Amino acid sequence: MASASCLSVLVLVALAATAASAQLSPTFYDTSCPRALATIKSGVTAAVSSNPRMGASLLRLHFHDCFVNGCDASVLLSGNEQNAIQNAGSLFGFGVIDNIKTQVEAICKQTVSCADILTVAARDSVVALGGPSWTVPLGRRDSTSATGNTGDLPGPGSSLAQLQAAFAKKNLNTVDMVALSGAHTIGRAQCQNFRSRIYGGDTNINAAFATSLKANCPQSGGNGNLAALDATTANAFDNAYYTNLLSQKGLLHSDQVLFNNGSTDNTVRNFASRAAAFSSAYATAMVKMGNISPLTGTQGQIRLSCSKVNS
Ligand code: HEM
Repeated sequence: MASASCLSVLVLVALAATAASAQLSPTFYDTSCPRALATIKSGVTAAVSSNPRMGASLLRLHFHDCFVNGCDASVLLSGNEQNAIQNAGSLFGFGVIDNIKTQVEAICKQTVSCADILTVAARDSVVALGGPSWTVPLGRRDSTSATGNTGDLPGPGSSLAQLQAAFAKKNLNTVDMVALSGAHTIGRAQCQNFRSRIYGGDTNINAAFATSLKANCPQSGGNGNLAALDATTANAFDNAYYTNLLSQKGLLHSDQVLFNNGSTDNTVRNFASRAAAFSSAYATAMVKMGNISPLTGTQGQIRLSCSKVNS
């Protein structure tokens, strides 16, 4: 009896392990919720057309989700992660995801995870702003808590070595890191995140560019005032981020370190001169980032509401 129950426990553990390690697949919802992807896309397209910055905000939400304990929608839960210094007051788009989730729930009850919705929404945001498309592997499940290490998120004062280490920790190589940083071709940053760069903290900055930023980012106060991460084409997902770096017009210190007489200069030059090379590297890296430590199989849950765990 003891050995029989022991055996059944072993079988259960083996089954759970198989389920837990199930692979993500682009066809995951083809049978269970065939309209899921179209529903997410129309929600994102509507949100981005009424406010282009929303595309940037949704993309950043996905990055901040994946870098903290994997792409498990933990960032959508209020509490620990949202209050972290890298996130507080600077993450947006929760309402858009909640609305899309409501629409998806209306067609397929408790089938499509918030983690997958966010991953697809990030892709659709890039597309809505004119960037490349890619196929998103699906089948992530949602965390039941938000207790990950937000220290894994790189900060705007990071050196090149620190950026490389932060991405390597997530199995993303240096080319992936340079490509993913190209997400800063859209969106905005607050004065407090680039102030030291424009007031003498950095020497590798275009002088006229620094002067133009000072008007809206005083030496003290105005912490939350915004500037475009890509001043050339702020709402277009293109490769201007890299051409900006070539003329020392990266907004954040962590942007300009990618082109600063260092090992990543050639990758920046390549992406600046060949838009197709950037698009392809970006798509590859986004799929890799979206595959960081997903919950699959029977792990986690499919949340009914993205902002809270199921009761
Ligand atoms: C390389 C390391 C990175 C650092 C240090 C970094 C840092 C930052 C900072 C400080 C901001 C401005 C936040 C604010 O002022 O409120 C920002 C914005 C943004 N980041 Fe990054 N980021 C990095 C990589 C990424 C990646 C990998 C993505 C996505 C693939 C991304 C997407 C964005 C977007 C789209 C915005 C604008 C968000 C908006 O306008 O709402 N970033 N990032």
